[in-house]
Amino acid sequence: MNAVQTVEESASESWSALEARARQRTDAFGEHALIVCDSLVRIYQSEGVEVQALQGLDLLVEDGELVAIVGASGSGKSTLLSVLSGLDVPTAGKVRVGPWDLMSMSSTQRVAYRRSMVGFVWQQTARNVVPYLSATENVAFPLALAGVRRKERDRRAAELLEVLGVGYCADRRPGQMSGGEQQRVAIAVALANSPQVLFADEPTGELDSATSHDVLEGLRTVNRELGTTVVVVTHDPGVSEHVQRTVAIRDGRTSSEVVRRTHTRDDGTEHVVAEELAVLDRAGRVQLPREYREALNLVGRVRLALEESHVSLWPERSTPTPTSGRPPGRHSATPTGAVPAVPAPPAAPIATEPAAPAASADQEADR
Ligand SMILES: Nc1ncnc2c1ncn2[C@@H]1O[C@H](COP(=O)(O)OP(=O)(O)OP(=O)(O)O)[C@@H](O)[C@H]1O
Ligand SMILES: [Mg+2]
Repeated sequence: MNAVQTVEESASESWSALEARARQRTDAFGEHALIVCDSLVRIYQSEGVEVQALQGLDLLVEDGELVAIVGASGSGKSTLLSVLSGLDVPTAGKVRVGPWDLMSMSSTQRVAYRRSMVGFVWQQTARNVVPYLSATENVAFPLALAGVRRKERDRRAAELLEVLGVGYCADRRPGQMSGGEQQRVAIAVALANSPQVLFADEPTGELDSATSHDVLEGLRTVNRELGTTVVVVTHDPGVSEHVQRTVAIRDGRTSSEVVRRTHTRDDGTEHVVAEELAVLDRAGRVQLPREYREALNLVGRVRLALEESHVSLWPERSTPTPTSGRPPGRHSATPTGAVPAVPAPPAAPIATEPAAPAASADQEADR
């Protein structure tokens, strides 16, 4: 074996090792999650104009979670829900819900998926319920299509309407109910066939804040009592009070998450802490909040340095010194010198109940 061969062989060896590692990492992403969106892309073509509604979106939702999705108008929330509900097929990426691979389903499988695995609630109440049927008949309708017997249909309808707190509306038609009551009946209809996941796109969009509260509480009850995984898109600023996790989407990508955790104080009392975290996607991208960018006038090229416990970031014009004394990382072009005259980045917003939630949907939408 000559020297050239040896080099080629070792190069191809390391190449295949790299490929194997990359494959392993891809397989591992979201392996145990119920919902997996991996680098999801959805491009719409309309009249020669290309709109990138989802631009490499990553999202994992665990079985039994209640997750809210917030974001400015046009950020891609409804596109994501259309994909997850099997109505739309993404342009690229991977998307799985339970055992269903939504990229490669046949049309028959798509119908089965929509009938058995997922339920939907839309913003427009009229789209969710049949106007000339009572609440009980509305819930029983999908059960009848599934061949469930009359007695069982009525039992299931009564049970679901009770769970949603609208048992008293059983015999009323939608026109005889308030918007909030109709949406809670709509949730019961969506749950009739016992789906594992419930998707709701702006279910409170047409409601006032008091009524919205009832609908969001209804979703929380469903999640807690029936164990249904719930993903709800909303502009409702109060949503983070009702969910464990709020995911913000910006420009077709997940940008930050507000996570709520319950802590027990030394005296045994419990309090809820909400913390906003930026999301580092699988390609290593992170979106800096607008106020950070504006505070330091961060545009275009920036300097990065690897510190002992964190990564620092400066505007290109500054000449920073790493704080830990550790050599800067490979992205850093930081000659030692004056410490940059830049303010410390604002701390991640943290709120303790009963104070206002860490990041309202409006604040998220602004990012
Ligand atoms: N069928 C379509 N054809 C062309 N462009 C579309 C289509 N549907 C959505 N878009 C575009 O894709 C982007 C994302 O739209 P989407 O409806 O997902 O946003 P959204 O976050 O749900 O907004 P909103 O809060 O207003 O409901 C927008 O720029 C929108 O104009
Ligand atoms: Mg929308």
